[in-house]
Amino acid sequence: MPEGPIRAPGSGSAAGLLREIASTGIDPVRGGYSRPVFSTAEQDLRQWFAGAASARGLEVTTDRNGTIWAWWNPRGHPLEGSVVTGSHLDSVPGGGQFDGPLGVASALAAVDHLVTRGTTPRRALAIAVFGEEEGSRFGVACLGSRLMAGAIDPDRARNLRDQQGDTFADVCAASGVDPDRLGRDDEALRRIGAFVELHVEQGRSLIDVGEPVAVGSSILGHGRWKLTVSGQGNHAGTTLMADRRDPMVAAARTIVAIRDGAAAQKGARATVGRVAPVPGGTNVIASRVDLWLDVRHPDDAATAALVEDLHARARVIAAEEGCTASLSEESYSGTVHFSSPLRQRLSAVLPHAPVLETGAGHDAGVLAPHVPTAMLFVRNPTGVSHSPEEYVEDEDAERGAVALADCLEALLVSDGG
Ligand code: GLV
Ligand code: MN
Ligand code: MN
Repeated sequence: MPEGPIRAPGSGSAAGLLREIASTGIDPVRGGYSRPVFSTAEQDLRQWFAGAASARGLEVTTDRNGTIWAWWNPRGHPLEGSVVTGSHLDSVPGGGQFDGPLGVASALAAVDHLVTRGTTPRRALAIAVFGEEEGSRFGVACLGSRLMAGAIDPDRARNLRDQQGDTFADVCAASGVDPDRLGRDDEALRRIGAFVELHVEQGRSLIDVGEPVAVGSSILGHGRWKLTVSGQGNHAGTTLMADRRDPMVAAARTIVAIRDGAAAQKGARATVGRVAPVPGGTNVIASRVDLWLDVRHPDDAATAALVEDLHARARVIAAEEGCTASLSEESYSGTVHFSSPLRQRLSAVLPHAPVLETGAGHDAGVLAPHVPTAMLFVRNPTGVSHSPEEYVEDEDAERGAVALADCLEALLVSDGG
């Protein structure tokens, strides 16, 4: 039953923790979960996390970019060079229950395992919860980690608008995050000696090999572009078919051309997942249609060439329909290979875990140029993600939390790296 509350073996387990938030952010219209950053649902999840962390004796703070940190530091070590794990609590619209929260719940469960085992850490451990990982409210994926890493101009971030027209600055201010202090946080980066993010697998590889947990190797380069097709807004009844300059028709043809263009290039993926006609009325020929394009490819130069090709196709189609098309980049993250020494350490701890690359973006990818990062993936028996069908069996959630605890313990009891 992927869409129902998960079966929990007991609170304190990763599955039990997820059960506590199984009704938060359910979307009765789209189905699944909608938990945009700083929405009521996401704020409720932040509060839940802070409560669960405090109940474990972790010290909880929120940094200047709205990232929550929960510290387990029983020996009072300096925070610089700590072991950090965590993920995000925001979701795509109508998404699943596990993308993000599984990593957060597993991190809490891993701390429980470390405490039960009597682990004596030689470094501090933190759980970090990043905001707007999905970019589903303000359009830029991994906004929290991008801000921390200085990978986005804070002025640009402040001026991003959601679909209601509210700026990120205003939403931050209303959520207790001072928008004037957004931006690169070297102190926070220095605190991360190693970052290990656990995540639900967003494909079928673990099903195919029959293993519950994998170690991540790389993230496919990916970016987002906004394509605006402009035509002539007009009346649906009085405008003859031959007289129309309908951007919706141009947009529809362009979407097919995008699919064909990407299908012709090995390894490429291109998606139009959001279309917004303006003004958007049943009896109105739109004056403009905005489309959001997501393109991914392992080779960054190939991605750039493909996007240029898709833009050229869009311009030709638009001209044939008496319209114009223009493209602007909203975000881009090149292909990332995780730290090889860190990945090898995780593989040494988890010798049966296959090593997998992923086509999904993660905060671990944004942080990778700055600090050693690695990922663990937990089997998803449906192989489906960004959808209510995304799923993790309780037993696998537990295996993932134990695997995370094993990896964190290995890092915490060593001197460095
Ligand atoms: C986030 O999950 C993405 O890959 O876009
Ligand atoms: Mn996601
Ligand atoms: Mn995610």
